[in-house]
Amino acid sequence: MSLNYFLSCTECKREFNPRPIYNCLSCNGILEVQYKNLTKSIAGMKQEYIFHDEKIESLLGEGNTPLLELSKTSNRLRENKIFGKCEFMNPTGSFKDRPVAAGIQKALDFGYKKVIVASSGNGAASVAAYSAKFGLSSTILVPEGTPDEKVKQSQFYGANIIKVKGPYSNSFELALKYSEEEKVYNLTTTFINPYTWEGDKGVAYEINQQSDNWPDYVIVPIGAGPLLVGIYKGFKELKEIYGKNDPIPKMVGIQAEGCSPISRAFENNEVYVISEPDPKTIAGGIGDGLRGYAKDGTYTLNTIRKSNGACLSITDEEIIRAQENLAKDEGIFVEPSGAAALAGFEKFSKLENIKNASVTLLLTGNGLKDMNTINESYTIPIIEPVMEELNRLI
Ligand SMILES: Cc1ncc(COP(=O)(O)O)c(C=O)c1O
Ligand SMILES: [Zn+2]
Repeated sequence: MSLNYFLSCTECKREFNPRPIYNCLSCNGILEVQYKNLTKSIAGMKQEYIFHDEKIESLLGEGNTPLLELSKTSNRLRENKIFGKCEFMNPTGSFKDRPVAAGIQKALDFGYKKVIVASSGNGAASVAAYSAKFGLSSTILVPEGTPDEKVKQSQFYGANIIKVKGPYSNSFELALKYSEEEKVYNLTTTFINPYTWEGDKGVAYEINQQSDNWPDYVIVPIGAGPLLVGIYKGFKELKEIYGKNDPIPKMVGIQAEGCSPISRAFENNEVYVISEPDPKTIAGGIGDGLRGYAKDGTYTLNTIRKSNGACLSITDEEIIRAQENLAKDEGIFVEPSGAAALAGFEKFSKLENIKNASVTLLLTGNGLKDMNTINESYTIPIIEPVMEELNRLI
């Protein structure tokens, strides 16, 4: 079943029939998917399937990730009830499988044979995997500093992966130019493709099914912020469908201090986000300086404000500590960007004196995808296979 949907400009509200466009044709604003009849039937549906014209039986098993209670972390952090939405358990190891599963289906619907993506590495692996599955040829642009694990993973699925010098914004700009000139569909998972970020909202639908009450806070590591905005959109739709009394959770965006255009604007009460020309952080997934598309950041900032949420930044050291805490307290291994939500909530809960709140952290990417911050801090002993040597070490 495909629902009756259209594209709507988030700024001038002009409507468009579904087609492969990246911005509003009148005002260049961000486009979003809207439904003519938002009914209960979609709440139980897998989001990725909603706007495909012909039913595809299964993609790669994305979504339906566990919502785990983080009990030691809850006790440590001021008696808040903290859950982790385990997005790192998606098929290629990150939440990006959701937006890409949605976008790939539109590529097929629109009759494309080739796709391109600019990515910090996780969107890359997703596009490579789903392209392999559905017989599309994929070109992937990543910043030259992208972790080897993500680059090799993408290449192994058969993608044509190319490193672009400079920050992520360079890859973004080049992919957009290429997709505008060639018959290649752009699956970059910022806000340029309205179908990809529509896929992110499945997280909200699942949290709704997995918990009795909606959380007070949802904490999301953000680059441009489509994951955060998508989750907000999901809760807003659920409220419309069910007329729920629960307030929409407060959305809290987390950035790294070395790349914090949105949190800076939030803290300084600015109306517009200004891009960051020289992003510097170990958390590559959230190292998006938004050069040339700062309006994406402004859209995320406005969404955070509408939800009565907040945006703050944390240091790389705080991220590494949170990554270690998740591993050692909870048995969860995430990459630095995936640990940013915990680091962010630790800081936020102290600043705002938050107690007894229900909190969901987005754990966005698998630790195996970026071992750069891990390898140096561990030395492993090697022994002869004899008991004496083993006893000496235990
Ligand atoms: C692991 C991880 N977390 C968070 C993000 C940021 O998400 P968004 O692009 O929706 O702002 C990314 C983006 O690449 C990521 O890879
Ligand atoms: Zn418009």
